[in-house]
Formats: sequence, C-alpha cells, structure tokens
Amino acid sequence: MTLDIAVLPGDGVGPEVIAEAVKVLKAIGLVYEHTFNFKYGLVGAAAIKEHQTPLPEATVKLCKEADAVLFGAIGDKAYDIDPDAKIRPEQGLLGIRKALGLYTNIRPVIAYPDLLNKSSLKVRQIKDTDIVIYRELTGGIYFGEKNLSADGNTARDVCEYHRYEIERIAHEAFKAAQSRKHKLTLVDKANVLESSRLWRRVVIALSKQYPDVTLEFMFIDNAAVELIKNPKQFDVILTENMFGDILSEEASVIVGSVGLLASSSHGEDHSMFEPIHGAYTDAKNKGIANPIASILSAALLLDHFDLADEAALVRDAVDKSLNLHITTPDLNTKYNNISTSKVGDFIEDFINNPEETNLNFTNIHLGQSTII
Ligand code: IPM
Ligand code: MG
Repeated sequence: MTLDIAVLPGDGVGPEVIAEAVKVLKAIGLVYEHTFNFKYGLVGAAAIKEHQTPLPEATVKLCKEADAVLFGAIGDKAYDIDPDAKIRPEQGLLGIRKALGLYTNIRPVIAYPDLLNKSSLKVRQIKDTDIVIYRELTGGIYFGEKNLSADGNTARDVCEYHRYEIERIAHEAFKAAQSRKHKLTLVDKANVLESSRLWRRVVIALSKQYPDVTLEFMFIDNAAVELIKNPKQFDVILTENMFGDILSEEASVIVGSVGLLASSSHGEDHSMFEPIHGAYTDAKNKGIANPIASILSAALLLDHFDLADEAALVRDAVDKSLNLHITTPDLNTKYNNISTSKVGDFIEDFINNPEETNLNFTNIHLGQSTII
C-alpha cells in the first residue's frame, strides 16, 4: 500500500514524539513492504513564528491532499499566560479540525495490565477498563460565536449544536457499541442546557435503529465522578466537544499517564491521528516525553487503512515496552533513564525482530544494548 501522510509535529514535545511515531511507521513500511511518504507542515506556535499564522494555507492544502494526517501537539506557554493574544497556537489545531471536517474524535481508554499500579486509582477499580470516548470535535462552545464587549467587561462563548451534527457522530458511536459491549452512555448536562436536551432527543430517536445497544444517560458532573469511581461500567461514551475534552483528559488517570492516550479524528473525507496530550513545553527537548500516545495514534492510522496485522504488531511492541519497563520517566520510576527516542528505538527494533527483543532486555537497562 502507498500512503501519503501529512505530518504536523506542532509545538513543545510534538516534534519529539512524532519523530518516534514516524520511526515506527517506517519500520512497519519496511517489514510489510508499504510505501509511506511523509510530508511535513507547520502548525501552531511554530507556524506563527515563521508565517504569523497558526495555520498556513500550505498546511491545509498538504493535509487535504494527503491520505491521512499525523499530528503532534500544540500550544506555547507564552500564549497561555497572555489572555490578550489575538493569534493563538490552538487556532491551528481547531482550524485544521474544521478545515478537514473532522467531527468524530475517538479516544480509547484502556487499562494496561502492566501499568495498573501506575495509576493513582486502586487496581481493583481500574483493572479491565476498556472504554472508548466519542467526542464531537467541530461544534459546540469551541466553535460557537465568541465576543468580548467593547468595555472588556462581558464575554460570550455560544454553545450551538445542529441536529445533523449530533446525528452523524451518534451513528458512529452506536456502531462502535455494536462491535463492542453494546452499551452507549450519552454524557450531557440536559438538566440545565438546551443544547444537551437536543442531544438527548436526537440520540433517543436514533437509538431505535440500534435495538441491540443499551442507551444510558449521565450528567457530566456525575460522569466525572463515575469515570474515576467505577470506570468499568462504561463501554462507549458519546459526548459533545468540551465535555469530551475534559473527560478524556481525566481518563488518563485510569491508564497511568496522559502520555499513553491516542486518538483518531474522522470526517467524510479526511482522518487525523494525534496523541491527546498537549505540548508540555517544559519537557521540550529533554527527551522525557512519552512517545507511546503518538505511536499508538500511528497504530490507529494503520487500523484505519485496514492494516490490522501491522497495527497489532505496533501494539505488541508497545505492550512489550511497557512490560519490560522501557518507558519514559512519567511511568518509569525504577529506570528513569529511558529517553523518548530510546523507547521509539525499542519499539522499532521489536517490529523488526519480534522474537529477539527479549534477549536484550537486561542490557537495555544497563544502557549496553546493541539495539538502542
Ligand atoms: C485536545 C486539546 C485541544 C482541545 C486544545 C489544544 C485546543 O486539549 O485535543 O484535547 O481542547 O481540543
Ligand atoms: Mg484536551
């Protein structure tokens, strides 16, 4: 298979973690004889620096012409502390989601057996957690009308949803539930918000088409508690843009590190794959960022093109790295000298030689391995 992959490393640790995802895809390409062409574009603070805009036209064009987009991270502290900044890196990410029509964001949350004790939650609470969050990505308060009054004392962000925006992602979420544990939880704030009541009405109407899926409802405040207290009760969670942003970040506590959570975003014509973590500017160029979320995002990319064996091999390699504690400091207290690129090297090496990697385990921790 030949794929043109647009790569937008972005800001902060984005370039470092994306380099590892690209490394892994190249290894898969070699082993399975696929041609992956990587074409790089600027986005976020990196693009503002060069072109005074977080989303240059050339980047949009590159992504539209590609078969898939691999995205790193976005954000810069300089903008975070300045509420008056007119141009912000995040506009690059929101802009590309909108430009590509990526309305369905899929965020799997899986408790890895080897990492159960890394979570701040109790092992019995989180063991066997396997959730997928369907977050609406191009509507709601993120994209509604915004303004600040002339005197600077009043601000508005409108949360607006149209029936079609709810229907198209709800279908996806119902289908996902059908292929999983047949349960869909709609998370909203229907006791207060009109937009949430529309979500409920639309989703209830659609549920008639999916009689084999049990539909449940939960208010966002309660869902925030239940996700931590008893995550195993969830199968597919469907929710609007901002609730999904918050819940998916919260879910990282279950898996032990936000550096493990991958995501994919889809529209009618395009797909993008990105870790859910942010730019983590403090860690930039220190080699401590966890590349696994990006590498697992690459696995989702492979899944998307029905390259199931390839995706499975990437996941096996990731499992092995977790199992052998070949992980960055966010997960690894005992051997915290494993850098971002060494984790990527290990995973690359496993892909090349799945049989042999075990043998080098001892040396890896001594820093003497021939493979890393
Ligand atoms: C995410 C991020 C983005 C979002 C930011 C960087 C705009 O937090 O992908 O979850 O809020 O969607
Ligand atoms: Mg977020």
